Amino acid sequence: MNEEQRLQGQQVKDTTPSDKKSEKDYSKYFQSVYVAPSLKDAKKRGKEEIKYFKDFNIPEEYMGMGNGKKFYIRTYGCQMNEHDTEVMAGIFMALGYEPSETTEDSDVILLNTCAIRENAENKVFGEIGHLKSLKQERPDLLVGVCGCMSQEESVVNRILSKHQHVDMIFGTHNIHRLPQILKEAYMSKAMVVEVWSKEGDVIENLPKVRRGNIKAWVNIMYGCDKFCTYCIVPYTRGKERSRRPDEIIQEVRMLAAHGYQEITLLGQNVNAYGKDFDDINYGLGDLMDELRKIDIPRIRFTTSHPRDFDDHLIEVLANKGNLVEHIHLPVQSGSTDVLKIMARKYTREQFLELVRKIKAAIPDVALTTDIIVGYPNETEEQFEETLSLYREVGFEAAYTFIYSPREGTPAAKMNDNVPMEVKKERLQRLNTVVNEMSAEALKKYKDRVVEVLVEGESKNNPDVLAGYTRRSKLVNFKAPKTAIGKIVKVKITDVKTWSLNGEMIEELETAEVK
Ligand code: 5AD
Ligand code: SF4
Repeated sequence: MNEEQRLQGQQVKDTTPSDKKSEKDYSKYFQSVYVAPSLKDAKKRGKEEIKYFKDFNIPEEYMGMGNGKKFYIRTYGCQMNEHDTEVMAGIFMALGYEPSETTEDSDVILLNTCAIRENAENKVFGEIGHLKSLKQERPDLLVGVCGCMSQEESVVNRILSKHQHVDMIFGTHNIHRLPQILKEAYMSKAMVVEVWSKEGDVIENLPKVRRGNIKAWVNIMYGCDKFCTYCIVPYTRGKERSRRPDEIIQEVRMLAAHGYQEITLLGQNVNAYGKDFDDINYGLGDLMDELRKIDIPRIRFTTSHPRDFDDHLIEVLANKGNLVEHIHLPVQSGSTDVLKIMARKYTREQFLELVRKIKAAIPDVALTTDIIVGYPNETEEQFEETLSLYREVGFEAAYTFIYSPREGTPAAKMNDNVPMEVKKERLQRLNTVVNEMSAEALKKYKDRVVEVLVEGESKNNPDVLAGYTRRSKLVNFKAPKTAIGKIVKVKITDVKTWSLNGEMIEELETAEVK
């Protein structure tokens, strides 16, 4: 069966070779759409060509299937997942479903899951357990599990054996098949499982219901080919594949025309953008250079890989305009030896050289990062190299994690002599430095005037508004609600560890913010 047939919604038979099936045979629970996820297959790269689908259409027979029904999607994990939720919400609405605020009054509940660390997975299994009583009270309710966890064999097998109140499991490459999967689930008593262990397609014109009308996410590429030794993402998200520039430019133009103020370009490794094109030599720098000309106040991108961050991109970002001076640049470790074991493909010195180039071109740049502590066999000296690198770069914020072994990745097979107590203590020491440096970076803002994109009421006080600066600093200030959605000037009066307080001094016309 080819991809076109699959996209037209035909059923996929269980084609899993018998030697690949897990020890226990779960076949009595499956629908015929079962395709086993296989981390081993997901690792293959380059065998399958990337297929582009210009259009996404829902066949007539599915239209209206959600009339009078409500859906609820709980999202875990990164912005990519948040954005996938926007696409699934778009498909639900196209089918006639209404969104719901609670699980209690929903007819379909989806958990869009994250597999990056064990605690993310534990949370999801907790939630799956909670939903059991709801399903028992209302057998007509459909419960689905999608996102990165569903790409893992062990997760699918665990749900099949222990959580039979789940009605559907589908993978990250199967989102566009939501109408067909829902229909199967309504018709069948067995669990519907559809997870393709494929390298991935690019499907354009999927419907989307975006959260809010101020900031928007735009996918520029999918997947990751880097295979850092700790990371599950290359297995759950498939191979690197870029959207065509004209599709992205058109989407950003459309968002600008609808009044959006900020765009975040998304990809697991956005600096590899365009590497998969065989007909044009076109990278992230070229794309940013074109997006710069679009009349939208702010454009960001995430996430970067230092290895692919090239000079042309730095040159383009240095032109500023709507390209903001904040770069999230995950370093993971400050030790060349650990970076090598992580297969990050750069050394401490190469990272510092990249930072030097970025700072030379954009002197007021704010750099933030991701760091993993307690990698297998990380020594005290290696950890201290991470602390010293953090200070040397002058990072202004960081997401910090204790290493979490992910089944199927090379690091999960490594022996580890670092006790959990030591890992926790290292995380605390790192966080002390992170907090100190954040407070240090924010101190400079006292009495300065910054431009804030006002997102809404502050989380803790509805009388206070909150928004972010171009350099991603959270600012709380008093102003009329009419400022929401606008870029305003705020004078900073008070500095905290993670945020700034201020007073609005004027609203800026969007056109002025160039
Ligand atoms: N354990 C801990 N942290 C991880 N990350 C990715 N995989 C793991 C893992 N197995 C972190 C990295 C990455 C961020 C999104 O999550 O720092 O940049
Ligand atoms: Fe994971 Fe990022 Fe490395 Fe890709 S580049 S393998 S997503 S950490």
